[in-house]
Amino acid sequence: MHDEELLKEFEFFKVKEGRFRISLTTTCNARCWFCHNEGSIPPVKIDGKNGLQHKTHTCSTQEYITLVETLIDLGISRLYFTGGEPLISPKLDPILESIPLHEKNEFKVIIATNGILLKKKLDSLSNKHIDKLKISLHAFSDESMWNIERTRSIDVVKASIVQAKEIFPEIEINTLLMPENQHEIMDIIQFARDLQIDIEILERMTWQRN
Ligand SMILES: C[S@@+](CC[C@H](N)C(=O)[O-])C[C@H]1O[C@@H](n2cnc3c(N)ncnc32)[C@H](O)[C@@H]1O
Ligand code: SF4
Repeated sequence: MHDEELLKEFEFFKVKEGRFRISLTTTCNARCWFCHNEGSIPPVKIDGKNGLQHKTHTCSTQEYITLVETLIDLGISRLYFTGGEPLISPKLDPILESIPLHEKNEFKVIIATNGILLKKKLDSLSNKHIDKLKISLHAFSDESMWNIERTRSIDVVKASIVQAKEIFPEIEINTLLMPENQHEIMDIIQFARDLQIDIEILERMTWQRN
């Protein structure tokens, strides 16, 4: 098929406001007990020692760059980078560097992150063409964060959200409501409110709905 015919085939990307989710890695620096790891079927397993079982194949950086270029040519409206934890992946920076400067009404580049590495990565991310960060905040104390994500870095995540708000055009907090954070949900909402950041409260999807 010729390029023009191929582009026509994918006109629906424009018409239907095409969205594409790239899961850069199954590796993560947290161990959320509920994690669906972006649709891995079967889901990534956490073993008794908090180790992860990974996918056997992921694309190379160059393959992702070609994919992203093609999706932009086809008229994609939203490109999501997720994982696992995308900020861990060394592929993220070169892929983002390959994305051209654009208006947010052309298409949007969105990164989903647990925020743990965000503070360290803010400098390098601030130079890239990112339209929105979706930052997970499931807890408000280290104790709950440990119960949910098996890590204690709540102050780092909160501070990163505050800083990120000054850098990126759009920030959104994502919170999964669950028994372990019910008692802190109002604190999380108030935190978002004080910063005037959108918050999305999610319900847990089970593996069957993956
Ligand atoms: C898989 S994570 C990947 C990005 C990043 N590591 C993070 O946690 O934000 C993307 C989003 O999916 C959510 N998520 C993971 N497992 C889920 C589940 N079983 N049901 C609903 N949302 C889930 C996470 O809370 C997070 O907001
Ligand atoms: S931080 Fe994200 S990818 Fe990592 S375990 Fe939690 S939900 Fe899954």
